Amino acid sequence: MEQIYLDHAATTPISKEVLETMNEASLNAFGNPSSIHSFGRNARKLLDDARAVIANAIGAKEKEIIFTSGGTESDNLALIGTALKNKARGKHIITTTAEHHAILHAAQFLETEGFDVTYLPVSETGTVSPDDLKAALRDDTILVSIMFANNETGVIQPITELSNILEDHGAYFHVDAVQAFGTFEINVKELGIDLLSVSGHKISGPKGIGFLYAGENVAFAPLSYGGEQERKHRAGTENTPGIAGLAKAVELAAAHRAENRAKYRSCRDTFIKRLTEEEIEYSVNGNLDELIPSTVNISFPGTNVEQLLVNFDLSGIAAASGSACTAGSHEPSHVLVAMFGTEDERTKNSVRFSFGSLNTEEQAAEAAGRIAKIVRRLAKRR
Ligand SMILES: Cc1ncc(COP(=O)(O)O)c(C=O)c1O
Repeated sequence: MEQIYLDHAATTPISKEVLETMNEASLNAFGNPSSIHSFGRNARKLLDDARAVIANAIGAKEKEIIFTSGGTESDNLALIGTALKNKARGKHIITTTAEHHAILHAAQFLETEGFDVTYLPVSETGTVSPDDLKAALRDDTILVSIMFANNETGVIQPITELSNILEDHGAYFHVDAVQAFGTFEINVKELGIDLLSVSGHKISGPKGIGFLYAGENVAFAPLSYGGEQERKHRAGTENTPGIAGLAKAVELAAAHRAENRAKYRSCRDTFIKRLTEEEIEYSVNGNLDELIPSTVNISFPGTNVEQLLVNFDLSGIAAASGSACTAGSHEPSHVLVAMFGTEDERTKNSVRFSFGSLNTEEQAAEAAGRIAKIVRRLAKRR
């Protein structure tokens, strides 16, 4: 039986070109970028080149890119770093109830440190209302953190509208673009974004590497202390092979964005069409036309998520509930609770399917056929 991987939102397989770039960097640029000799200079050049590729991809300056260990660290640095540095200006932060735990748990930490956090609600289709943001803004608001696309549902937030509201306010705008970066071209200047989080392993790059874009006017404190790497924003010898791999992944994502979008969308469309043809009961969480093309979160009435995932796995289909980081816990997804409330069945019978480089339309149709069989059997038992 063919194994079908529909969990690209959890992580993506690394691309061969990225791996080759990393091997090359490991073997031939192994020096410490802080060393002054030729080995160090060689590694420093690799770092500088990678930074230039990434800055160019998002319309930023090279000095505005800070390499991190991934999305979680970028989110933490964005939230906690700016909060600590700007607390004299104010201690109010705005985010949403549907953010990734890297944001929510960082925000909860800040609450214990005396910051006041407003969690904006999301609608039943998962979006934040610009009016709610407008109403929540205060003179002492120092930071607004809203994700580009949700990791569980794929729902895209109205980033331009939200950014426009902040135009005349002193609060920084942080955007977690970990899920969107692979399929959306993001120009931080055009979108009015002050801080942006991106992770390598969601874009066919290496795990444990990512970057934070922080505009040159953004003041933020480091979270680690030691050497003076990353312009004193992130101490520690740089992960040069990972950084080279990340830059290659960013370059490839930019070069193939349109074709990847089309491919993922056609896989998803085929998948949904086949579910409909199979005449099983299902509903999409969120509006299909407000989702990133790779992801869809689907509720199957009369089933429950643990049963579904175990049976999908037995039939060779890898899918997920909630975010990968909380997989294994039986708590209903906080994102679906934010959309539907605690009592709604959809919080307990929904699965995320996320398409990517490993998939074909044929596979998507085959997966939907297997899923329909399982759902029919489980829903009948009710
Ligand atoms: C929206 C979002 N933010 C942050 C993260 C954390 O990224 P990383 O796994 O690179 O730490 C994830 C990973 O699932 C994510 O989907």
